[in-house]
Order: sequence, then structure tokens, then C-alpha cells
Amino acid sequence: MTTTSSRPQPATDPTWWRGAVIYQVYPRSFADGNGDGTGDLAGLRARLPYLRDLGVDAIWVTPWYRSPLADGGYDVADYRAIDPAFGTLEEAEALVGEALEHGIRTIVDIVPNHVSEQHAWFRAALAAGPGSPERARFWFRPGKGEHGELMPTQWVSDFQGSTWTRTTDPDGNPGEWYLHLFAPAQPDLNWSHPDVRAEFEDVLRFWLDRGVAGIRIDSAALLIKDDALPEYTEHPGPGEHPHVDRDEIHDVYRAWRALADAYPGTRILVGEVWLADRARFAQYLRPDEMHTAFNFDFMARPWQAKALRESIDMTLAAHGPVGAPATWVLSNHDVTRPVTRYGREDSSFAFARKRFGTPTDLELGHRRARAAALLTAALPGALYVYQGDELGLPEVEDLPLEVLQDPMHFRSLGVDPGRDGCRVPLPWSGSAAPFGFSPPGATRPPWLPQPACWADLTVERQSADPGSMLRLYRELLALRRTEPALGDGSLTWLETPDDVLAFARGDVVCVVNLGDDPADLPPHTDVLLTSGPLVAGRLPRDTAAWLRGPGGPLTPTP
Ligand code: NOJ
Repeated sequence: MTTTSSRPQPATDPTWWRGAVIYQVYPRSFADGNGDGTGDLAGLRARLPYLRDLGVDAIWVTPWYRSPLADGGYDVADYRAIDPAFGTLEEAEALVGEALEHGIRTIVDIVPNHVSEQHAWFRAALAAGPGSPERARFWFRPGKGEHGELMPTQWVSDFQGSTWTRTTDPDGNPGEWYLHLFAPAQPDLNWSHPDVRAEFEDVLRFWLDRGVAGIRIDSAALLIKDDALPEYTEHPGPGEHPHVDRDEIHDVYRAWRALADAYPGTRILVGEVWLADRARFAQYLRPDEMHTAFNFDFMARPWQAKALRESIDMTLAAHGPVGAPATWVLSNHDVTRPVTRYGREDSSFAFARKRFGTPTDLELGHRRARAAALLTAALPGALYVYQGDELGLPEVEDLPLEVLQDPMHFRSLGVDPGRDGCRVPLPWSGSAAPFGFSPPGATRPPWLPQPACWADLTVERQSADPGSMLRLYRELLALRRTEPALGDGSLTWLETPDDVLAFARGDVVCVVNLGDDPADLPPHTDVLLTSGPLVAGRLPRDTAAWLRGPGGPLTPTP
């Protein structure tokens, strides 16, 4: 399918990123080219036509670097090498070029807060011992207590549990401790050290030189630590937390922005910034810092008109003053899939609340996820689509315990199911696993087992079904591309009952019914797209529509 666009084509438009549709590829689970049960670059390259036909402007590829995969690749051993499980550097270079031929830009994922315990710097630091220059690149500290047996701080890990691991000295005695905000296999770097800054600027250049269009910055608010390593109070003031959102961090991103701006074309910085304080969040998006950051506030909201509208308003209000476009994200490789989350009584998202056995109405979740797709694609700014959401994949919640890999699961002592359930390899075709994920004659099954019922969710099956989630995504992304009013810009809210959201983007109106009763459609001349059938011309519950507005003045809310 070829789509024409009345907006400038990304290849020539320096503002391409402001309204782009960016598809997140988790390479391990996207497509397996060599039949070893793990997705790879060969698989991704072979499926680029699928992404072109889906209508995305860019892909963000989660870490593909050499890694022991202690945290799915967010434990990088070498930032300039591709992990052999995924392929080679030459294949990555070829991918970037081939994707561009399909009109798709590539964004790579850089992990600056920590490295793998297998990284050369960390191995050297362990070998060099206390007080060495090698250890100064990390956070090694003697323990507290008479024999150094107590951790230097009581900081709690984002993966639960402690943030310090004790080392063993070459003579076999217990030695210093090192800091890891995530798993012990992910030692934190010391961003006060000039080597660290220089190294990452060089890593950025390495990938920008290879033509990538952007950098997704992992754990972007965590890099800087208070050197004194104090304990934190329960409600630290802005910038006062010892390792979250410290003011000095902005110098790092100013330097990165200058570096990216020195390249031809617009190379973007996209931050993974988990911050509740919208004003602090927006500081990362000042004109000389990052281009955009993921909007997790919206992603975590329940399926309720008031909550979603509040998030949309807060988001737009926070982005406006810094001139940055908002982003809209329904999920990613860390959170519960929307089809599952929206099918729950509590449809908000919080890591701390993830549990096995939460009752879920998948049919309800599916209907809402379709409506949410129309809503997010109509909002002003850029749109992120996590692989498999376009197929309406649910979270896989009954993976056998012995196949689970996520440290979040293990570090919660088995209470948190972890993130493997949203990382199950995609179903492409056929009626039995591996559903075309691996080629015929594959030597190993997919690294996580796919449910048998995914036979109904394959790309092949959904391509042939006009009512499928995939066909909906293809239609809505094609329309989004041809409607000049969509993408970057602003919105005008329309007057509606409390449970209905409706807004105009130029002459396109998006309306979503989150209430129980059918709702009247706002004035319109045409129905462009709906997430489900209208009933007697009205919008049923959990359904969204895109309409052609009447052209004349609409009735905005105050
Ligand atoms: C955020 C990533 O999205 C997640 O997958 C990872 O575990 C942490 N950062 C640590 O790198």
C-alpha cells in the first residue's frame, strides 16, 4: 500500500519528529531471521515492508548492543557492537539505509545511567581495586558498620530490593560496595566523571555517523547523583532527591543537543523521563535540550474521560511554554499491554500494583484499546506504537514460571509477574507456534512461548479481516498522514457530556465515548473512521470516531 501525504515527507521535513508515528521494535521478539528462536536484525530487515505498509515514520529499536541480556539488553557490554544474537554492525548499518528507502527513520536506544557488569570499564574497575581511577567511573564505596558489612545507603531499587552489591577483593575478603539503581548486573556510572561524559558523546557520534535519526535516552532523569550519597526523605523537594532529576543533569542534555544539532537533518533526542512533576518534566524539553520525551502520565491513566482529559490538558499546558510537541504512548516493553489493562476494573497503570491473576475482560479491553488508538492518533504531537499493539496482543499472563526472565519478577521475590508478558514474540502467520516468527525449519522455539490462541491474531489473519485491529491501525495511520490537521498542532475541545471526549483538529473531529450510554456525534459532514460500529447513528460506549467537522464554527468548551 502506498500512501500519499499532504504534509511534507519526513525525508525533507526538518520538523518530521513533531508529528511522527514512531514504532517501537523490541528486536528479540519482532522477527527471527535465522531460526534460533530469538528475533534479530535479519528478521527486522525482512519485515520493513510490513512497517512501511503500517504507515510509520520511524522505528525506535530497543538495545541491540552486545549484552549478557540480564535486563533484556538494558545491560550493555559494548555500545559500539551488535549482540551476536541479533546480528552484526554491518547488518545494523544496512538496516538504517534500507529503512530509509522505505521512508522510515531509525532511532537507537542509548543506556547512559548504567552499563553491564560485563562492560570493560566495570571489569577493569573490579580488577583495579579500591581507590583506583578505574573505580572512579562508578560508585564504589566502603560499607558502613564495623566491618563494612552495611550498605552505604538504604536507597531502594527501581527493580525493588537494595541498590548496592558488595564486591569480593582479590584476596577473597569482602570488599567495597557498588551502586546499581537497577539489577546488580547494571552498575551505575558516575556522571561527575569526565571520562563518562566523553565516552557517551563518542557513542552518540558513533551512531549518528551511521545515519540514525535519533537517540532514545534510557532512564534519562537518573544519571546524576548527589556525591554525598545522602538518604532521601519521603517527599524531597524539586531537584533535592539524591538520584532523581537533579538540576545538573540538564548540562548533559544541552551538550548532547549541541552534538546532535551539528549533524545534517534533524537528529532527535527522546527522553525516558518518569517524573510526576509536569513543570520539572518540561525542563528536559527546553529548546536546547531534548526534542521530546515519553508521556507516561497519559499512559498510566485509567480509562475515564475526566482522568484522560486532565492528563491531556496538563500535558499540552506543560509542553506549550517550551515549544515541544507532546507524545502519546499507550504502552511499551515495560508495561501491561493496553488490551489487558483497559479490560480491568482498575485500568490505570503502576509498576507497584502488578500482580498475577488480576481479573480481566479482554473483550472490553480490546474495544477500549481500539478507541484509545483513535484517541491517541488524533491528539497533537507524536505517536508511539509498541510492537504488537497494532495486533491487539494481550499481555501473556500465564507464561510458565520457568521461562520468565525479567529481573523485576525475581527481585520482587515472585510477587510481580514482571515484564515478560508484553515481550512475547509476535505472531506473523500460520495456525501454530512459532506463527511465522521464526522461519520454517527453525532450530529452537521462540524464546518465550506464544499462546495457541494467537492463531487468531497473526498479521496474516488480521490482514484479511477488515474488522481487525491491524486493519484499524493501517487505516488510522494512513488517514493521519493525509489529514494535514493531524500530527503536530493544537486542539479545540468541544462541548460534550461528562463521559465523552471530543476535540477538533482543524476540520477533523475526534470523539470518544467513555460512558455507559450511547452518545450523539458532534455536528459533522462525514464519518471518516470509527473504532467500532455506530448504532442508529450514535456512538456506543468505549468507541471512538473521527469525523469531518461541519466546517463552520464548532462549539468549544470554555
Ligand atoms: C527503562 C527501560 O525501558 C527498561 O526496560 C529497563 O529495565 C530500565 N530502563 C533500566 O535500563
